[in-house]
This record gives sequence, C-alpha cells and structure tokens, in this order.
Amino acid sequence: MRGEEPKIGQYEPEGGTDVVRDEREIARQNEETWDSRAKTYDAFFRFTQRRLVSLLPLGDNPCLLDLGCGTGWTLRYAANRWQGEFYGVDISSKMIERAQAKSRSYGNLHFYKSRVEELPFDDDFFDVVISSYAFHHFSNPEKALREANRVLKPKGKLYILDMTANNAFTRLVDRFARKLEAAHVKSYSTKEFQALSERAGLRYITSKRIIPPIEVQIAERSNLNS
Ligand SMILES: C[S@@+](CC[C@H](N)C(=O)[O-])C[C@H]1O[C@@H](n2cnc3c(N)ncnc32)[C@H](O)[C@@H]1O
Repeated sequence: MRGEEPKIGQYEPEGGTDVVRDEREIARQNEETWDSRAKTYDAFFRFTQRRLVSLLPLGDNPCLLDLGCGTGWTLRYAANRWQGEFYGVDISSKMIERAQAKSRSYGNLHFYKSRVEELPFDDDFFDVVISSYAFHHFSNPEKALREANRVLKPKGKLYILDMTANNAFTRLVDRFARKLEAAHVKSYSTKEFQALSERAGLRYITSKRIIPPIEVQIAERSNLNS
C-alpha cells in the first residue's frame, strides 16, 4: 500500500545520516530537475563510463539494463561493442525522449520511463544491471537494489558507478551537494553500499576504483529472491 511505503529516513547508514526526506517527494524533485535539464544534459566523465563498460561480463547476446539511464550514452557505447538487448529506465520522461531520439538508428535499444524502485520487467530477465552517476539520486536505494536483484538472472551481476563517500572530504562534498540540489539524496561509502546491497538480497562482491573518488560497486544476484 502506497501510504505504508518505507521512507528514506528509515534507512540509517553507519554513523547516522541527516537524510530524512519523504521518498515520493524526492522522486518528484528528481523528475522535475531532470526534465528541466534533459535538453542540454549529456553524459559527463565519459572515460569513466567507458571503463564501467569495459568491466562488464557481456557474453553472447547479453540483456542489459541501465538504471537512471539519462540520454542513454552508456547504453549506446555498450551496444556499439556487443550484440544484445539494451534497456534503459529513467524517471524523467524528457530524458527518455532524448534517449529514444538519439538511439533511432539502433534496433536493440529500449527505453522506458520508470522509477528504479518499481521496475517494469519480469523476474530473472537481465544478465547485467548497471547504473552511472544516478544511484545517489535514488529516493529509496534499498528498494532499487531489491528490484535489481529481482530482475537479474541467477548469477547476474550489478555494476554501480558513482562517487563513493569513503572519507571526510567526500562526505563533506556530499553534504554540500545535498544542500545545493534537492534531487541529490546521498553518496554512500563502500561499507554503506555493501550493507544496503546485502539487505536488498544481493551478494556484494567488491568495488573497483576508477579514479578517486569514483568507484564501481559490484554485486551479484543471490538465490534468495524475496
Ligand atoms: C546524473 S544523471 C545520470 C544519467 C546517466 N546515467 C549518465 O551517466 O549520464 C541521473 C539520472 O538519474 C535519473 N533518476 C533519478 N532518480 C531516479 C529514480 N528514482 N528512478 C529512475 N531514474 C532516476 C534522473 O532522471 C537522471 O536522468
């Protein structure tokens, strides 16, 4: 029932947090923010997204999902290298429109307007789920990870590229970002991400440093899909 949906404030990462905002309000702010930026936005730090794609275990005809795909740059980059089916979801309909417009020449890219916390896909559908620079915007990160676990095939892998708040400086940057931008929820430390992913039923594997403080957090679907 919607009225009983958990709030982000119920999530208490190690050391406490001042994130006590309502999940639906954060989602609304993200939709508004990214709709207004969609016209001019494109992927930034592209070398980090290229590095993310280079880490992916994309075998024969992979089925891949990008959470918070924006204009779909990472998906097109991956689709230029592998044959397969590539899906992107984003809360902003304007981002999805731009992603579709930019991907017209591809027959295997599919974009849907959706919150990552309620994915419109069947269970056991994807080989790989990725996300780049979007995780710190998610209104309920645990729910998003639970959904990723649900839609991954057994042994399917999750790769999250984002700033990791592992030290005092990055935690300070995160605090400022939250004050400056309503759509910014929180950047997580590696420990927090591990705890979140395990609570969501995933098996945490490791993190790979791309360039400090940008890391890729890697987890695997567990068999305990609840
Ligand atoms: C910084 S942009 C990153 C876009 C793209 N992944 C990239 O690397 O360029 C963050 C994106 O996350 C999306 N987003 C934020 N919260 C979301 C949610 N709860 N569900 C789906 N998408 C969300 C935003 O609409 C935005 O397009």
